[in-house]
Amino acid sequence: MAQMNILVTGGAGFIASHIVDKYISLGHRIIVVDHNLKNKSYLNSKAQYIESDIDDKKIEDIFRDNKIDVINHHAAQISVEDAEKFPEENAKTNILGTLHLLEMARKYKIKKFIFSSSAALYGNVKQLPVTENTLTNPNSQYGISKLCAEKYVLLYNQLYDLDITIFRYANAYGPRQKGGVIALCTQNILQNKPLAVRGDGETTRDFVFVEDIAEVNALVLTKQTQSKIFNVSTNTKTSINNFITFLSDITKITPQIIKTQLIAGEIINSRLDNTLIFKELQWKPKTSFKEGLQKTIVAFEKEYNHKELGE
Ligand SMILES: NC(=O)c1ccc[n+]([C@@H]2O[C@H](COP(=O)([O-])OP(=O)(O)OC[C@H]3O[C@@H](n4cnc5c(N)ncnc54)[C@H](O)[C@@H]3O)[C@@H](O)[C@H]2O)c1
Repeated sequence: MAQMNILVTGGAGFIASHIVDKYISLGHRIIVVDHNLKNKSYLNSKAQYIESDIDDKKIEDIFRDNKIDVINHHAAQISVEDAEKFPEENAKTNILGTLHLLEMARKYKIKKFIFSSSAALYGNVKQLPVTENTLTNPNSQYGISKLCAEKYVLLYNQLYDLDITIFRYANAYGPRQKGGVIALCTQNILQNKPLAVRGDGETTRDFVFVEDIAEVNALVLTKQTQSKIFNVSTNTKTSINNFITFLSDITKITPQIIKTQLIAGEIINSRLDNTLIFKELQWKPKTSFKEGLQKTIVAFEKEYNHKELGE
């Protein structure tokens, strides 16, 4: 594969730090823009890091000074709860930030724009699994901001012939994750703290392992597709109660459960069809839920051991 210069936004965060590792392993040159570079252990020593907001005008310097081939855009305000509390902040990053990057793509004639979207834009639907053609009907500020950003990405494809791919991720999980039910419960169980479960624990999610997500971000660099939007999922449902049973079996710890209320904008059941992405990109998730969970637990245990040793 020819070496490409790739700008990865949010590359110091959970999903995109794995994508950075994958791209580096394939020999690409990576520049990361992220406004938070505190998690040093997630940074790849072979990538270049620029600490900045994505909507800061100064990021134009990157495009002036480097011949960027691909923008892989993962920076976002990702919390449904924070988006409810600070909707304007959410829109600023998720909508205006994306627009700023699209403008850079247009001005500097970028070959490809990869955008991380979300299952959140389907909202609560009657029929599962959702396909890419299911009507989008977000029930959260976060979902609306992702849908709006998607529309801009599609528009830049139509108006300026920018090659684009939009990935609608189901619920990602894996090492380095900070929020979300899997990371929070895994961290708590390892510290013998109680686990907070929203509602009755029977809400279901389609959990997709982060390394499988990194894989598809690599595949799309070289493969042409007819479609522009793809679900990235396992098309299986796991209830939160099921997940906790798995977690308890693997760690051999019986946790204390604290029930809390469902939050505004919470999706009750989520499962995404992944037929299209298999057909066009020949991608399907390689990691079973149990295997992914085991890897996640091992990674979190390692983080704690390092912390305890003061490393
Ligand atoms: N985690 C999931 O389950 C999931 C599901 C669907 C979609 N996504 C999408 O995938 C992407 C990555 O999510 P993640 O879970 O890795 O989140 P994350 O919070 O771990 O990573 C996001 C990164 O973006 C950075 N960032 C946020 N706002 C920024 C800004 N204005 N300027 C520069 N950097 C900024 C953060 O510092 C962080 O490092 C997001 O776009 C998210 O919407 C995630």
